[in-house]
Amino acid sequence: QKLQINLEQIEKGGFDHFMLKEIHEQPKAITDTYRGRLLRQEAIVKMAGIEDNMKKFLNADRIIIVACGTSWHAGLVAEYIFEDLARVPVEVEYASEFRYRNPIITEKDVLIAISQSGETADTLAAIKLAKSKGAFVFGVCNVVGSSIARETHAGAYTHAGPEIGVASTKAFTTQITVLTLIALRLARAKGTISSSDFRNHLLELEMIPKKVEESLKSDAHIQKISEIYKDVNNFLYLGRGYNFPVALEGALKLKEISYIHAEGYPAAEMKHGPIALIDENMPIVVIATKKGHYEKVVSNIQEIKSRKGKIIGIVTQGDIQVKELADHVIEVPETLESLSPLLTTIPLQLLSYHIAVMLGKNVDQPRNLAKSVTVE
Ligand code: AGP
Repeated sequence: QKLQINLEQIEKGGFDHFMLKEIHEQPKAITDTYRGRLLRQEAIVKMAGIEDNMKKFLNADRIIIVACGTSWHAGLVAEYIFEDLARVPVEVEYASEFRYRNPIITEKDVLIAISQSGETADTLAAIKLAKSKGAFVFGVCNVVGSSIARETHAGAYTHAGPEIGVASTKAFTTQITVLTLIALRLARAKGTISSSDFRNHLLELEMIPKKVEESLKSDAHIQKISEIYKDVNNFLYLGRGYNFPVALEGALKLKEISYIHAEGYPAAEMKHGPIALIDENMPIVVIATKKGHYEKVVSNIQEIKSRKGKIIGIVTQGDIQVKELADHVIEVPETLESLSPLLTTIPLQLLSYHIAVMLGKNVDQPRNLAKSVTVE
């Protein structure tokens, strides 16, 4: 048993938990994922799975994305990127709903299935259904040779390396990286992005790993915030646009490892219901980075403040406005709006991690959860 413990400690590479190790591995995982695909000097994105099937993508009436859990959140981020950059209609579906609701699928549809493990039963079943209707199915998986990787017509791997912690972290950011590359490649092929905008995206994406590293430096500050809120029963997470799915992901992370009830909402939806929950006992994490409806988010923050909610703002470095209103701010470096989820998600991962550790929860293997859900 002693040997087993020591082996595990070695595997954790000096970190207390796999989850923390995997959070810190993100700069490398993202770099590994875009290496050989993002060619900035040549100003191209090269992905064999896309090149070989370019016609299918260009002729597609729409793209349907299916996934579960965190991978579904990555799909939601991709919806914004694909529609914004490549101007192709996208639908994002929970695989478990899609497969059971007699969906309309044609040969002109492209289905993208996202799965870290490549073994999620509902996602696999959704793929088989889409294939039976003649759709072209593309996989975004992390595990090489997994069932989903084998079942899809083509695909692109995330190169996150093994993810052991049940709470998905580096899989999420590498999925967004792959999906961004695909959107950029299609946008270029379709002519829906200017060459300067395209180059700028490549440059900014290339700088993301450094900026993730920078974001990780807030760890001690986040630990202090976690100490203040660890005993609450509820959390709200708000974000708009590209950062709405990040709010959902932040809430999911907190739920699964700390067992604190948390909900993610698009910030503007607050006034349609959740605002009734806000009082001095409710911490609200608001993603309020500079680009992307900043002023609107600031007014959402004012509404929260007037109801005495506790505000934890995720802001762009150097922000002044939110700092004045919020109880705490956590800064991330500036980047393009479309790439901001890759940075704003980092403090949310750390917040859930520290709260769970402080509460003495089993961070890497939370109760009732399995790393891959192979049952339907
Ligand atoms: C994420 O933290 C979860 N543990 C879970 O939602 C997971 O993302 C989901 O089960 C999908 O798994 P997959 O990516 O391996 O298909």
